[in-house]
Amino acid sequence: MKFFIDTANLAQIREAHDLGVLDGVTTNPSLMAKEGISGHDNVINHYKAICDITDGDVSAEVISTTYNEMVEEGLALAKLHERIVVKVPMIKDGVKAIKYFTQQGIKTNCTLVFSAGQALLAAKAGATYVSPFIGRLDDVSTDGLQLIEDIRLIYDNYGYQTQILAASVRHAMHIINCAKIGADVITGPLSAITALLKHPLTDSGLAQFLADHAKAAAAGVEPV
Ligand code: E4P
Repeated sequence: MKFFIDTANLAQIREAHDLGVLDGVTTNPSLMAKEGISGHDNVINHYKAICDITDGDVSAEVISTTYNEMVEEGLALAKLHERIVVKVPMIKDGVKAIKYFTQQGIKTNCTLVFSAGQALLAAKAGATYVSPFIGRLDDVSTDGLQLIEDIRLIYDNYGYQTQILAASVRHAMHIINCAKIGADVITGPLSAITALLKHPLTDSGLAQFLADHAKAAAAGVEPV
């Protein structure tokens, strides 16, 4: 399973990259705004800076909502860097735009997916990635992980190559359950990824090992 980080924060992207487990980055207009990135040139430069950190795919979202505008915006984004994936919302013109980009050999990420039907359409249009938002479904008392299971079943039934990119991941259990189900990718905050590291028995076990080592060294125990 691939790990993407869902942020436009360069320090966090660098930290995840340095950990050695980062396979890509997803951004969205809200995440860009959170970092104070606005204005055409700043946005473009920021995407380039992200591409310079990671070796993986970088999703850059269009803000247009009509077919012609999405195509124009997506083509410009795709030209920025070979690792850019054009992120397109699941709306009627978005599906058409995904089909167009697919025919041009441009990678796409179909975003704001909340149902199996939407995921089926994204796959039929040839999306590289489909992004079901599991955390936001959980927020409205709907089982986000069940949606991942349903999409996995549908894609496997027909051999669709679209990768299931479980998005709106909020915590480590989301990641573990997505791995059990067979999501191809998860995207979430750095905190969800680093939370996978944690176990109290690891901490207490390491403390014990180091204490025993120090005790033996102090007592002058010779290696056998
Ligand atoms: C997907 O690519 C989105 O950027 C993201 O995962 C949304 O997550 P949120 O619901 O935590 O905002």
